[in-house]
This record gives sequence, structure tokens and C-alpha cells, in this order.
Amino acid sequence: MTATPQANPDGPSATPRARRVVLAYSGGVDTSVCIPYLKREWGVEEVITFAADLGQGDELEPIRRKALDSGASQSIVGDLIEPFITEFAFPAIRANALYEGRYPLSTALARPLIARRLVEVAREVGADAVAHGCTGKGNDQVRFDVAIGALAPELKVLAPAREWGMSREQTIAYGERCGIPAPVSKKSPYSIDLNLLGRSIEAGVLEDPNVEPPEEVYAMTVSVDAAPAEPQVVEIQFEAGNPVAIDGQRLDPVSLVRRANELAGRHGFGRLDMIENRVVGIKSREIYETPGLLLLIRAHQELESLTLAADVQRYKRQIEASWADLVYQGLWFGPLKQALDAFIDRTQATVNGSVRIKLYKGNATVVGRSSSTDSLYVDAMATYGSDDRFDHRAAEGFIYVWGLPTRLWSARHR
Ligand code: ARG
Repeated sequence: MTATPQANPDGPSATPRARRVVLAYSGGVDTSVCIPYLKREWGVEEVITFAADLGQGDELEPIRRKALDSGASQSIVGDLIEPFITEFAFPAIRANALYEGRYPLSTALARPLIARRLVEVAREVGADAVAHGCTGKGNDQVRFDVAIGALAPELKVLAPAREWGMSREQTIAYGERCGIPAPVSKKSPYSIDLNLLGRSIEAGVLEDPNVEPPEEVYAMTVSVDAAPAEPQVVEIQFEAGNPVAIDGQRLDPVSLVRRANELAGRHGFGRLDMIENRVVGIKSREIYETPGLLLLIRAHQELESLTLAADVQRYKRQIEASWADLVYQGLWFGPLKQALDAFIDRTQATVNGSVRIKLYKGNATVVGRSSSTDSLYVDAMATYGSDDRFDHRAAEGFIYVWGLPTRLWSARHR
């Protein structure tokens, strides 16, 4: 890697990489520097930025203006919150999707949606390329590039930060030379990605996997110490596997996720500290807080245990792991995703009912579940009382047959 900001590596007279580019824009240093970099070093005539509102709570007007101040010829802001929740978060809940058994994909789920919108904007403005500010080490570049390649093979994908070889300090210095205004939000030692589903926090002291995350990294959840001394039981209602109400109040999908975030966050539930296996082969230390999403997945899993047949439930666990892997790995628009979705959707018709969860000091403990229409729990079968209708004597014949192969094997090899 070069020590100084890189001029066009192909030389000044080289042909421009693209003419008109739509850049995925966050308002941060990297994506801001991408604007002058694309124009000066790569000969791009026009950079149009697209910033997505995914419920991250940032003020978007300053971000929109910052893109223009950094040299964008047009700065577009798009509200993607509703599709983010209904088309991406809810399917993840129905899939009980947890990458490596833990991470609910809060960042990963946003990428195919941003890519889809980038492609639409590129077509609207007649761009010949799209660009993003991802580095070559992360998962997000994989997700963007694969999604764009699937949706719009005719578009080039430019990733300046993958090639420019500048450290963070050099990137800032380059930006200053190009007249890029100081960061919109105040500087943080961490690298943070956030949206309505949660936050991911990396870098700074967190790069040592043996260091406990300082309390300051969290914003959506309180610490166990600060959590209320009284537990709170919340009831989450589902229809066909989708959450529809909390504590008896029907809410639209976006409001429901916001409410779940508040409730779980207030009780300090939803923090995660893990070593994660990235697509590019690196192990990285990741801090997440995804209070609402984890709460909703927990409740959904519980309702499935009441309403799915045993074999379907067991089989679905394998499907879920594959679903989480492929979403993490950027294969949202691939054929396996569609096939697994068909399986998952087919299982969700009976996932109707409610789950009660007690939130208390960083924990979310299921304390009840019910389904008036689809419960497979049968009192007369389960009870140890006098209402028992299970034929105990039938078990003997069943066990004779069930255990036969084991007895035959043992007789031979004992
Ligand atoms: N490791 C997480 C993921 O791959 C979070 C990535 C955060 N992205 C970012 N640009 N800071 O989903």
C-alpha cells in the first residue's frame, strides 16, 4: 500500500472509470472522500449520492447537504424504513435468523435493500456505474457487489476505498485538501453501523478481543446496573409468523420494531459481544445491540415450538442456519434464498398466537405461550392428572419396535 494518497494508478491520461456514478452515501468521512476521489482520480464526471433512511435516527438534511458540499452534483435521500422492516426484518424473524447462532444480521439485512435502491436510482438518472465506500476487508462490499451484479449486470461497481490505500488519517487529510467539511457527527474512536434493527460497533479498544466493551459503545440498551429493579412482562402477538401486536396493541411493522427496541433496550436486553467469521476469512470482534430484533426472534421461536409439527420444527432449524449464512454472505438475490424462503413461508401459516416474555436486568425469559387456533399442545395428552387420555400400554409395543435395531445390534456385538 502506498504511503501517500494515490493518484490515478492508471495514470492521468487513462480512460475514466465511469461517466456518471451513483454513490451509496452515509455522510461519513470515507463516503464523503469518495466524491472528490472519484472525480479527480478516476475521471468521473458526475457523482450523484444516495443516502438511505433506515431508521438510524440521523438527521438526513445535513447529510444531504454535505454530499453537495463535497462535490456531488445531486444528493438524493430515500426513506427505506418500511420495506426494510416488512421485506427484510420480518422474513428474518420468520427464519429465526441468527448468524453463527447469535448475530441477528441487523447490518447484513440492510445491504440488499440499499443495493436494490441504488440500482433503481442509477437507472433513473442514467448512470453507468454505482459506487460504495466499503473497504476490501469487510462483508458489506461482498453484499453490495453481489447484489448489484445480480440486479444490474450492466452497471459497473466502483469501490474507491478498496483501492486507494489511504489510512484513516490520510483519508481525512485528502478530504480536507478537497474542501470536505468536518465530520457531521462528532468523531468517535469506533466504527459504527446503525439502523432501526440495531447497531454494530467495531475498532478502537474493541479490537482487543480480551477487553470488555466500555459502556459508552452502547446507545440502544442500558446496562444491567441501570435497568429497572422491577421486571416487566410483555406479550407479543404473531399472525402467520409476523409480529402484529405488543401488549394487545396492534402496531404497524415499523412502530412495532421501535416499540420492541424501547422495551428490550430499557431492560438492558439485546447486547452481543462475539468473535465472528467474516466472508473474507477474517475473524473479527463485533459488538452488537439489537434489542427489538432479538426479542422478536426469541418470541417467534417460542411460538413455533407450540404450533409447528415436531419434524417441521426440527427440519426448519437447519434451513434457518443456511438462511442466516447466505444472508450474511451476500447471497440475498440468489436461488437458494428463494428456495429456502418457499420452505419457510410454507411453515408459517400456523404460527399464530402470543408469547409472554419477562424482561429483567438484561434477560428476556419466556414465561408463557398460547395459540387458540394452532396450538399442538393437547392437555389430555400432556397431563399427569386424572384427565390423562394417553394410552400408556401402547408405549410397550412402540418401544419393542423402536428399540429393535439397537437390541439386534447389541446381541451381535456384545
Ligand atoms: N460484522 C457485521 C456484518 O458483517 C457488521 C458490519 C458493520 N459494517 C460497517 N460498515 N461498519 O454484518
